[in-house]
Amino acid sequence: MFIRIRRGIALCVAVSRCAVAQVDYSQFVNPFIGSEGAIAGYAFGGGDVFVGGAVPFGMVKLGLDTYEEPVNQSALNGGWTPQGKVTGISMLHQSGTGGGPKYGYPAQLPLTTIEAPVNLLDNLTYWQTRVGEDVASVGYFHTRFESDITVELSATRHAGLMRYTFPSSEKYVLVDFSHYLPHPSRSWDSQFYAGGEIEIESNSRTYTGYTSIANGWNLGPPVTVYVCGEFDSIPNSARAFSGKNTFPVGRHFRSFNNATTPQPTFQGTSARSGPMSDRVGAIFSWNETDRSNEIKSRVGVSFMSVDKACAYKNEELFSWNIEQTAQAARDEWNRDVFSKIKVDTSPAANQTRLALLYSSLYFMHLIPSERVGENPLWESDEYWDDFYTMWDLFRNQVSLWHLIQPSYYESMIRSLIDMFKHEGYLPDGRSGNYNGLVQGGSNADNVLADAYVKGLRGKINWTEGYAAVKKDAEVLPYFDQNPVDPQGSLKEGRSALDDWIPLGYVSADRNTRAVSKTVEYSLNDFAVSQIAAGEEPGDRELYLRRSAGWQLSWDSEAISRNFTGFIMPRYANGTFHKTYDITNCGECNWSDESYEGTAFEYSFVIPHDVETVIQLMGGPQHFEERLDYVFKPNTSGVDLGVNGLGITTINNVANEPDFGTPYLYNYLNKQYKSVERSRQLATDFYFNSSNGIPGNSDAGALNCWLVWQMLGMYPIVTTPVYLLESPWFDDINITVNHNRTLRIQAEGLDDGDGRQGYYVQGVSINGQPWNKNWFEHGDLDIMDEGGSILFQLGTEKKVWETGELPPSPGHIVLEESRR
Ligand SMILES: *[C@@H]1O[C@H](CO)[C@@H](O)[C@H](O)[C@H]1NC(C)=O
Ligand SMILES: *[C@@H]1O[C@H](CO)[C@@H](O)[C@H](O)[C@H]1NC(C)=O
Ligand SMILES: *[C@@H]1O[C@H](CO)[C@@H](O)[C@H](O)[C@H]1NC(C)=O
Ligand SMILES: *[C@@H]1O[C@H](CO)[C@@H](O)[C@H](O)[C@H]1NC(C)=O
Ligand SMILES: *[C@@H]1O[C@H](CO)[C@@H](O)[C@H](O)[C@H]1NC(C)=O
Ligand SMILES: *[C@@H]1O[C@H](CO)[C@@H](O)[C@H](O)[C@H]1NC(C)=O
Ligand SMILES: *[C@@H]1O[C@H](CO)[C@@H](O)[C@H](O)[C@H]1NC(C)=O
Ligand SMILES: *[C@@H]1O[C@H](CO)[C@@H](O)[C@H](O)[C@H]1NC(C)=O
Ligand SMILES: *[C@@H]1O[C@H](CO)[C@@H](O)[C@H](O)[C@H]1NC(C)=O
Ligand SMILES: *[C@@H]1O[C@H](CO)[C@@H](O)[C@H](O)[C@H]1NC(C)=O
Ligand SMILES: *[C@@H]1O[C@H](CO)[C@@H](O)[C@H](O)[C@H]1NC(C)=O
Ligand SMILES: *[C@@H]1O[C@H](CO)[C@@H](O)[C@H](O)[C@H]1NC(C)=O
Repeated sequence: MFIRIRRGIALCVAVSRCAVAQVDYSQFVNPFIGSEGAIAGYAFGGGDVFVGGAVPFGMVKLGLDTYEEPVNQSALNGGWTPQGKVTGISMLHQSGTGGGPKYGYPAQLPLTTIEAPVNLLDNLTYWQTRVGEDVASVGYFHTRFESDITVELSATRHAGLMRYTFPSSEKYVLVDFSHYLPHPSRSWDSQFYAGGEIEIESNSRTYTGYTSIANGWNLGPPVTVYVCGEFDSIPNSARAFSGKNTFPVGRHFRSFNNATTPQPTFQGTSARSGPMSDRVGAIFSWNETDRSNEIKSRVGVSFMSVDKACAYKNEELFSWNIEQTAQAARDEWNRDVFSKIKVDTSPAANQTRLALLYSSLYFMHLIPSERVGENPLWESDEYWDDFYTMWDLFRNQVSLWHLIQPSYYESMIRSLIDMFKHEGYLPDGRSGNYNGLVQGGSNADNVLADAYVKGLRGKINWTEGYAAVKKDAEVLPYFDQNPVDPQGSLKEGRSALDDWIPLGYVSADRNTRAVSKTVEYSLNDFAVSQIAAGEEPGDRELYLRRSAGWQLSWDSEAISRNFTGFIMPRYANGTFHKTYDITNCGECNWSDESYEGTAFEYSFVIPHDVETVIQLMGGPQHFEERLDYVFKPNTSGVDLGVNGLGITTINNVANEPDFGTPYLYNYLNKQYKSVERSRQLATDFYFNSSNGIPGNSDAGALNCWLVWQMLGMYPIVTTPVYLLESPWFDDINITVNHNRTLRIQAEGLDDGDGRQGYYVQGVSINGQPWNKNWFEHGDLDIMDEGGSILFQLGTEKKVWETGELPPSPGHIVLEESRR
């Protein structure tokens, strides 16, 4: 169990469970990693992670919702903030997201009084500061309010269990159906309440109904969630209420005057919103002195019906015991997630590394949310939501799921294709049953291609999978009028196909984010060509050629920091934006010329054709010098400020586009430099502390980057290639392909306390000496049948690889005249 210690490392305090009996990997997980940013005590610039009770990919993520000021140092995305006042305890959350908040509903909050000045319609009058430190472990959360109420939480897949311990016999629980996570500093994409209904059953201790919350990050339509909540004892009083909707956002439904804060009207046993979207809720109270001061509540939710919500509550939470519920969650995490990667967990093992490994695995299994039988839009056996976003996930996270979560992963792929079939497009982001936002390309193409080239077939219909990626490549999506981008759809698809198809690149005058879209569309078309190779061979050549579009945006005369040749914004008339700042993309936002990365960075991000990048940068030596340069301190032209946690290099380890850059030395057969750089980044920016990741965890993408680093491999997504790096453990057993074991061993590893015995001296795979610094998924069948990779490590920075360079399967030489 971990206690959060401000800015410090977390301590294992539950001695009984910390000592190793049988392997309970969950004990090593620190659920607070990424809960805080660079400013102590504030969430801003941190991981935006969810902290609370959840099972792997669980639909319910039960945790606190808070309001932290000043808002410019806060981030409510995961609900929990280090010092925020608690406004509710709610069932649905995201984890690690960097856009605007989604979810934070439906909610309860235990109170010790409802006397004035408490107004049940005004959270400012009852919100709670926490005292002491919050405690969290896998599947369990504990906090104490200033009112002296203790709150404990745990969750199953579709239900949550709360235990409230009150300081006296006066006990109230507010059920607030109009609660949601607001965006405290802007309204255009904030969620808002769109109506609900609540009914208290005749037994007085069960309530049912629904709430609808609209908008949020992807500007989605209202999401309706059905609720079934129950208390473990019959209250003395249970009253539903309603009140005018005066929330500052959601202007379409407001029934103000905002000068006066409305008071609730008590409605007996039920309340409904009506045409002006009135707020609804209920207040339950227990006041008898002969009872225990503890109230428990179990709540089920469903996107389908109240009946389903009640069934989840009854079937999944047949016990009211919070320890048992937490234990069941821990067992599931151990069985289905942590035990997939086994390392030595004895007391002699480096405990920091165990915390980093198992916490990283934890954070990369919180979203997307699995919603079997919970698709309100069309009939489907399986369904997933909360891909937030493919732009983050495709870089390396899907490739690890492929290995260690083959069942879940196959289901995700099928579900993505199903979305295409029913809604017309694959999502790049999806939340609240709605596609969006697209940050660059249609990156689900990369995800499907990665699964395809690694042979994932199962019950996936690849005829349809190919049709889905081909649609992305060919059909301009309907313009969704998102206010932040006047030029094209952010909902789905590729908004700049109107340039991409006729010109071969995305122009800077007719479209936004020309640099990054050009880079991403190139890989997307390469991905399409990879699936075409098997499904529609006649199409392969077309998309392979289109995947070289980035070369058309390469300005061989552009100079920055003494390096020549960059991907640059190019206009439709063929000229380049010559004065563009190559090391500074400004806001790097929706309507800028490059998104979340400079032209300097994006010029390296062509994983399908590194060979041509090397040529265009002037050959291996110039390429290497430029690569060295982006890791030099104080070279960044962007002030990443507090959000960057002190990143001063051009390479930004905190953001996805640059994830693969430190590994590019493999393409020079100087693997030792990849090991050196990537290790340094990992040790400089990842810690077992609440501010232990460099920025938003992005649905676990940053955490997963660290897992690959610790395994000593890195996947080149959309191709079957894994680069070989250097493992952090001397023995790792990974369960791949359901039930096979890939064993990774590192002989000679000696890297404690700053020692550098981690450079590769040699590698063998399944006992065969291996002279390449990469291998393919199908080589010796090791990823499907299991096998072994043995690294010989030492302190010498050695060029051990004498074999072929990693491949550039999208290598295309465009004629000079086209460039
Ligand atoms: C937030 O605003 C306050 C002033 O209102 C300022 O002192 C502080 O530096 C700001 N924090 C950030 C992270 O910008
Ligand atoms: C709390 O009240 C404020 C003011 O009405 C509102 O902006 C906010 O959305 C409310 N809810 C939460 C969860 O903060
Ligand atoms: C109501 O609130 C809005 C938004 O905060 C504000 O612009 C407006 O002046 C307020 N109106 C009154 C009458 O207080
Ligand atoms: C408890 O609350 C109920 C409902 O408000 C009230 O009727 C009853 O008198 C209260 N009991 C005590 C012991 O205060
Ligand atoms: C990995 O598996 C092998 C073979 O079963 C076993 O001998 C070894 O102890 C395992 N190592 C770890 C760290 O689990
Ligand atoms: C795959 O999908 C295509 C197109 O919808 C359909 O014609 C075909 O029958 C499906 N194949 C299988 C095996 O279901
Ligand atoms: C990006 O633009 C949107 C819309 O103008 C704005 O709300 C947001 O704060 C901007 N983000 C950054 C990081 O500048
Ligand atoms: C570029 O090269 C010139 C001449 O060699 C040198 O003076 C200058 O410092 C270099 N600039 C950078 C940014 O490295
Ligand atoms: C090309 O287009 C850009 C952007 O519209 C414009 O500034 C430039 O003058 C044009 N150049 C030529 C040669 O037409
Ligand atoms: C980078 O800049 C900081 C602040 O100006 C300075 O303290 C530091 O020494 C510089 N580092 C290098 C390697 O130049
Ligand atoms: C391994 O898992 C596959 C897929 O679930 C299953 O078909 C096979 O029977 C399993 N093999 C063993 C030896 O358990
Ligand atoms: C344990 O691992 C951490 C993180 O990699 C490292 O900083 C530390 O030096 C290691 N400690 C020992 C004693 O090896």
